[in-house]
Amino acid sequence: MTSPVSKSPLAAFLQLLRSLGQPPRPVTSTACPPPPPRDVPICPLVARGKAQDATALPGPANWPLLGSLLEILWKGGLKKQHNTLAEYHKKYGKIFRMKLGSFDSVHLGSPCLLEALYRNESAYPQRLEIKPWKAYRDYRNEAYGLLILEGEDWQRVRSAFQKKLMKPAEIMKQDNKINEVCSRASFPGGHIEDLYSELNKWSFESICLVLYEKRFGLLQKNAGDEALNFIMAIKTMMSTFGRMMVTPVELHRSLNTRVWQAHTLAWDTIFKSVKSSIDSQLEKSSQAPGTDFLCDIYHHSQLSRKELYAAVTELQLAAVETTANSLMWILYNLSRNPHVQQKLLKEIQRMFPENQTPRAENLRNMPYLKACLKESMRLTPTVPFTTRTLDKATVLGEYALPKGTVLTLNTQVLGSNEDNFEDPSQFRPERWLQEKKINPFAHLPFGIGKRMCIGRRLAELQLHLALCWIVQKYDIVATDNEPVGILHLGILVPSRELPIAFRQR
Ligand code: HEM
Repeated sequence: MTSPVSKSPLAAFLQLLRSLGQPPRPVTSTACPPPPPRDVPICPLVARGKAQDATALPGPANWPLLGSLLEILWKGGLKKQHNTLAEYHKKYGKIFRMKLGSFDSVHLGSPCLLEALYRNESAYPQRLEIKPWKAYRDYRNEAYGLLILEGEDWQRVRSAFQKKLMKPAEIMKQDNKINEVCSRASFPGGHIEDLYSELNKWSFESICLVLYEKRFGLLQKNAGDEALNFIMAIKTMMSTFGRMMVTPVELHRSLNTRVWQAHTLAWDTIFKSVKSSIDSQLEKSSQAPGTDFLCDIYHHSQLSRKELYAAVTELQLAAVETTANSLMWILYNLSRNPHVQQKLLKEIQRMFPENQTPRAENLRNMPYLKACLKESMRLTPTVPFTTRTLDKATVLGEYALPKGTVLTLNTQVLGSNEDNFEDPSQFRPERWLQEKKINPFAHLPFGIGKRMCIGRRLAELQLHLALCWIVQKYDIVATDNEPVGILHLGILVPSRELPIAFRQR
C-alpha cells in the first residue's frame, strides 16, 4: 500500500512548518526504563519522585489544528497507523502524547504502565465514545449495548451476560453448536477464493447458533437473503461511521447527509434482523422452556427487551470479524511454519485418534494448541489497541494525567518488543510453554481489566475447535513465500489475499 499523500511535497511542507517553529516536546519519556532481569514482574504503580504535568509528555510534532495528522498521512496514512505508532513508541518511549486534529490521546506501550492502569482502574472504566452509534440509538429510541454503555448501566448489562460468557463451565456447553458449524464448513481442497469471506460466514453462523439457536444457512450454496443483507448492512455501517467520528455527527444528522442516511439504513437492517431472531427464540422457548443462552439471560436478569436487543446486536457485531480474522492469521502462521503445524497435528491426533470430534473438555490437555493460538495473537493480533477515558486524575509512570484524558493502550506494541519477547518476529509457540514466565501484562489481545472482551472464552473455544477440525483434515500450505503486509482497517488484516491452500491429508 502506498501513502495517499506523495512524499516529497509533503516532506518539504513539513520542513517549512518546522522552520516556522514548533511547540517544544521532550524527546523521550523515561518512564519504565529497561527492566532488570527478573522472574516476577515488578511494577511502579506510582511514580518514584514527583510526577510531571501531562504537558511534559514527549510526542511527535503538534501543529495548530492538525496535530500530527500530516505526519501520520505522510508515513502511510491511517491504514499504516499501527506501524507509525510502533515507530513513535521506539522514538519517544513507553508513554507519549499525540494529537490528530482535535483528537488528543496519551499512548501507553509497556506492561508496567498497563499494570499500573489496571491497578488503578475505577468501578466503571470507559472507552472512547463512539458518537455515531449513540446518535443512531437516540434517533430511533433504541438502547445502548456493552460497546457504548457507561457507568452503572454498563455494569448492569455486563453482569447479565458475564456469567454465561465468562464462566468456563458455561462456555464449554457450547461446543456442540460450534462443532456443528465446523462440520458444515468443510473447506474444499486447494486454494480458497476469498478465504476471509468464508471464515466470516463460519464465525457468523457460530455466533448466531450460540445466541439464537438459529441457522442462517450461510455455509450452504444458496444462502438466504436475510443473512446476506445482514452482512452487507454490517459492512455499510462499519464503513460509514469512521467519517462521522472525525466530523460532527450532529451536523450529519441535521443535514441528513448521504453518509448519515446510509449509516441509519444499515443499522435499521441490523436491528430488524436481530429483533426478529430474538423474538422468535424467546417465543419458541416460552412454549417449550429450556436452558438456551438467550432465555437464560433474559429470565435471570432485569434487562428489558429493548436492552436485550441492543446488547445482543453489539455482541454479534463484536464477535464476527474479530474471530474470523484471528482464525485467518493463525492459518497463515501455520502455513509459514510447517514444523509447528506438524507438532500441532501430532497433539491433535494423540487426543482424537481416528478423527474423533473434538470436545471442549479435551482442550484442557492440549497445551500446544493453546500456545499456537496465543503466539498467533501476539505476532499477528486482530485488535492492535483499545482505549480508556480516565474518569479520575491518575499518575502513570512519571506523569500526572488529568480526568478526561483519553488513553490508547497499544497492545500490539507489547507483543513485538524484545524487552517482553525474545526474537519477537519469530512464530514460536514453545515460548508459552517454557518455565520462564511471560509477564501477563505483555499479552493483552482481548484488552484489560473489568472492561476486557466479554466474548474472549467463546472466541477461544471457537478458534481451538476450528483448528482441531482443520488441521486434522488438511495440510495448510504456503503457496508463496513473499512477505504479507498488515493493514489497519479497524482491525489488522492482511494486505493481500493470503497465499495459503488446503491439501487433504
Ligand atoms: C478473537 C476474537 C476477539 C478479539 C481479538 C476481541 C478483542 C476485543 C478487545 C480488544 C476488546 C476491548 C477490550 C478493552 O477495552 O479492554 C473487546 C471488547 C468486547 N468484545 Fe471482543 N474480541 C473477540 C471476540 C469477541 C466475541 C466472540 C464477542 C461476543 C461473544 C465479543 C464481544 C465483545 C464485547 C461486547 C466487548 C465490549 C465489552 C465491554 O465493554 O464490556 N468479542 N474485544
